[in-house]
Amino acid sequence: MNIIPTGEGLGATIDGLDLAAPIAESEVDAITRALGEYGVIRFPRQQLSGGALRDFSARFGELEVHVSNVYQEPDIPEVMILSNIVENGKPIGLADAGQDWHTDMSYARMIAFANVLYAVKVPRRDGVVLGNTEFSNMHAAYDDLPADVKARIDGLTATHDFDKFWSMMVKRPGSKRAPLSEAQRQARPPVTHPVVLAHPITGRNVLYANPGYTVKINELPQAESDELLDYLFAHQLQPKYRYVHRWQEGDVLMWENFGTIHNAIADYRPDEPRLVKRCQVMATRFFDENGAPRAWQ
Ligand code: SIN
Repeated sequence: MNIIPTGEGLGATIDGLDLAAPIAESEVDAITRALGEYGVIRFPRQQLSGGALRDFSARFGELEVHVSNVYQEPDIPEVMILSNIVENGKPIGLADAGQDWHTDMSYARMIAFANVLYAVKVPRRDGVVLGNTEFSNMHAAYDDLPADVKARIDGLTATHDFDKFWSMMVKRPGSKRAPLSEAQRQARPPVTHPVVLAHPITGRNVLYANPGYTVKINELPQAESDELLDYLFAHQLQPKYRYVHRWQEGDVLMWENFGTIHNAIADYRPDEPRLVKRCQVMATRFFDENGAPRAWQ
């Protein structure tokens, strides 16, 4: 297994691993450490069945089954289909997943460790790849904060709400999402997490807030909270922290959600097919149900 860093703020390629075959515990550890160091890892030229994608992902922790049970690989609920393809008048996947800046599952008590995406169809126009996924580096964003801001956010907590991102997507022109029902909202109540998280792999602080789900800094009055969140969101999205993954068919892209935030770029049309299969690995290996760190090594 060969780790080749992109040389940018995030990202590395791991060559020499066939993810369809069982991998050793030492390889799981090496990939986990590489995720801490590089945030985003590409495994090129893979050929995976839905079952193989699930089995590889499950080596890194418990897998989430998405609330929408519509867009799943048949008989494999842990594998979700992200796609704009419509067959026989029916969408085969969730078309607008992740199309703005967010961190997966910061709205849940047990947050997400990693996403594992497998690209089956990648849109291109005039030879240019579309539908890329963009990341921003929250180790660097935290490190760069002015000392007074670091002191101000130390010990603060924030509320994260699933409905923030969902409602924003509902309002997008052409959205096919219905507003959440009361029952759906109650199934996903807002949760609280620290604004500064000790990254469980690197041990360094990261900024754990994101425009998609973070709604309030709990210890501050609303106006002050809004002002601080606006500042943190603008800070964390500066171009110097960003990295764009340009997809190729057969790529497996794995990223960790503690130290990165991401955005699926919606620059392709309905007639430019994109098909990606996704597993989401929960942070059960790193935190207990109360959010206390677990020894994972
Ligand atoms: C996601 O946010 O998990 C979707 C990312 C993508 O489709 O590129």
